[in-house]
Amino acid sequence: MAAHSPEQIIEGQRQDWNRVAGGWEKWDRFFDEQMAFLNHRLVADARLRTGLRVLDLGSGTGYPALLGAQTVGTRGSVIGLDLAEQMLKAAGRKAALLNLSNVTFRTGDVTSLPFEGASFDAVTSRFCLMFLPEIPKAATEIARVLKPGGWLAAAVWSAPEKNAYLTTPLAVIKQFMDLPPPDPTAPGIFRLAKPGELAGMLRDAGFTNVTEEEFLADVRFPSGEEYYESLMDIAAPIQNLFAKLSEQQKTEARHRIVGSIGQFRRSDGIALPIAVRMVAARKPLG
Ligand SMILES: C[S@@+](CC[C@H](N)C(=O)[O-])C[C@H]1O[C@@H](n2cnc3c(N)ncnc32)[C@H](O)[C@@H]1O
Repeated sequence: MAAHSPEQIIEGQRQDWNRVAGGWEKWDRFFDEQMAFLNHRLVADARLRTGLRVLDLGSGTGYPALLGAQTVGTRGSVIGLDLAEQMLKAAGRKAALLNLSNVTFRTGDVTSLPFEGASFDAVTSRFCLMFLPEIPKAATEIARVLKPGGWLAAAVWSAPEKNAYLTTPLAVIKQFMDLPPPDPTAPGIFRLAKPGELAGMLRDAGFTNVTEEEFLADVRFPSGEEYYESLMDIAAPIQNLFAKLSEQQKTEARHRIVGSIGQFRRSDGIALPIAVRMVAARKPLG
């Protein structure tokens, strides 16, 4: 298969995430309850406080931009940037419901940031950077728009074998089709799973005080059905693979995915492991 250009990858991402925006809005409350702790971690790692001007990259439906806006208060501000305008529309609706007037959402590409140099005190990003075709270029762009001494805090998915939450459907889909071994440099869910990879790119872009931690947790579901429905509604890359199955295979795959979730059942519900790589870095004071 011909390799895609960065422009084609970015356009594909824009279409993919616009397609699932309705699913993100539908399951918003559930995922916020389950994964808000990651937003708190990012807000802490980025050292957000009252009055700061913050950029959130790949904001989607507003995470962690909304918590960032609450943290910096009305003397500060947050811009949430994303390719997918439908995701951002949902983010805007949530900001209005929360009465947040200090957060704005705008479309744009992380690899080519539409901002002047040194215009932000801090940058946050949750589950976006691994989808970029040119991550080192994005790291340079982030360093450019940060003020000296400003912090970046980013969350990306860690190793597939520690992320049963994401890999359970992939393992089942593989039972129906030959998936080529993933190209380790191609954008995708696990592109930045390797320890030190994102950290190294940030150091190369001039960042200092680079830290990373693999953060283990689990996501709770009342039932296997709810797990299946919610993940399939929001995970664009998994949807793309699932779409390649015939209708009969889809029915069987759903049955097997829901069935294999049983192994994660505990007395208080289903607990699916996740492993997130939390990376923080500082632009030198200059
Ligand atoms: C998995 S979603 C994460 C959304 C949100 N940060 C969250 O954690 O809920 C990934 C987001 O990254 C965005 N994205 C992917 N590539 C991008 C790029 N090159 N520039 C800006 N946004 C991008 C997608 O449009 C999508 O909304």
